[in-house]
Amino acid sequence: MSVADLSTPLKFAYWVPNVSGGLVVSTIEQRTSWDFDYNRKLARIAEDAGFEYALSQTRYAASYGADKQHEATSFSLALLAATERLKVIAAVHPGMWHPGVLAKFIITADHISNGRAAVNIVSGWLKDEFVNFGLEWLEHDERYVRTEEFIRVLRGLWTEQGYSQSGKYYDITDFTLSPPPVDVPGRPHPEVFFGGNSTAAQATAGRVADWYFSNGKDLDGFRENIAGVQASATAAGRRPRYGLNGFVISRDSEKEARDTLREIVAKAHRPAVEGFRDAVQEAGASTKDGKGMWADSSFEDLVQYNDGFRTQLIGTPEQIAERIVEYKKIGVNLFLTCYLHFQEEVAAFGTDILPIVRELEADAARRAGVDFDPDETLAATHPSKAGV
Ligand SMILES: Cc1cc2nc3c(=O)[nH]c(=O)nc-3n(C[C@H](O)[C@H](O)[C@H](O)COP(=O)(O)O)c2cc1C
Repeated sequence: MSVADLSTPLKFAYWVPNVSGGLVVSTIEQRTSWDFDYNRKLARIAEDAGFEYALSQTRYAASYGADKQHEATSFSLALLAATERLKVIAAVHPGMWHPGVLAKFIITADHISNGRAAVNIVSGWLKDEFVNFGLEWLEHDERYVRTEEFIRVLRGLWTEQGYSQSGKYYDITDFTLSPPPVDVPGRPHPEVFFGGNSTAAQATAGRVADWYFSNGKDLDGFRENIAGVQASATAAGRRPRYGLNGFVISRDSEKEARDTLREIVAKAHRPAVEGFRDAVQEAGASTKDGKGMWADSSFEDLVQYNDGFRTQLIGTPEQIAERIVEYKKIGVNLFLTCYLHFQEEVAAFGTDILPIVRELEADAARRAGVDFDPDETLAATHPSKAGV
């Protein structure tokens, strides 16, 4: 069954550069800063340019380039306070938070921002962050057992009074969080995003996530990736939405864009990329079927550490817009984008690429005989009951 939704407009997000070094591990010039002033301005540029979401990254330790990091939830909250429409998704590790504490934190952020807080649940790949904090480093698939319970607790505490849940990792007894999250039409609770590639990640996402985030993929790779999530979601009677990462290089000519990609890779910080490859491929290969994220990534892919070149949003604005709509036709609902020079290129995305995307989307809907409403928002992705 096709999951493509041609009737609603694609959504766009950008990666918040809240860790140093930009989004590529390369010595090429990047006019991107990880500091708050830069990010506040970027967030305002993004919401004016038509971006609906921003995604922060969670990292506690220097690793493979990201020498300095700002904490994700506090940074996200500050960005929410600095903007008016942007939804900010804070990345969080279940192993580092109690879900009740996080549920409460996000409710407060939701009230401060009038209903714009969201989370990205990440199950962890950087073993040292856990081990050196003295936290337990669970075996790969077990991390997803905990993640699933964690998300069920969040949803339960956000939607029910006197919530109880007893499991392997969490025991919640008759708990009511007051106030509840802001009542936003079509949104039963703050949205839960989820990132992961492995079979365990896909199965878990299908059962409990509102949104599944995929690393960068070509068209076939993306199809394969969402098939696993969709199988699990269908069995659970749910309908998650799909986000795809892509590194955008938009230039006046395709040659210029390709030359920029070549320069990024030629100037890659080789020891950092190789160190990252060793760490994450070990993590990915440790899954039973070897399908963990990054398990088959090449050196070039890993220069953008979420495989963003694979999506091939590289060329002229027209070429990029066409490629984006091809992905929409196979099920992408949201593009998570990154750039060399965030402020300039996010603004340019809004003026040069987005209008073409909207035209092509309207055209694709017309050809398919589907009504397209450019102002339509996505329908709720899941029933509001906890535990579903
Ligand atoms: C869009 C996206 C964002 C992610 N953000 C983070 C992050 O901020 N911090 C982190 O430690 N892991 C992050 N991850 C990594 C995942 O949580 C997970 O560890 C990784 O996908 C490996 O899982 P797998 O081996 O099950 O595929 C992200 C993944 C994706 C797809």
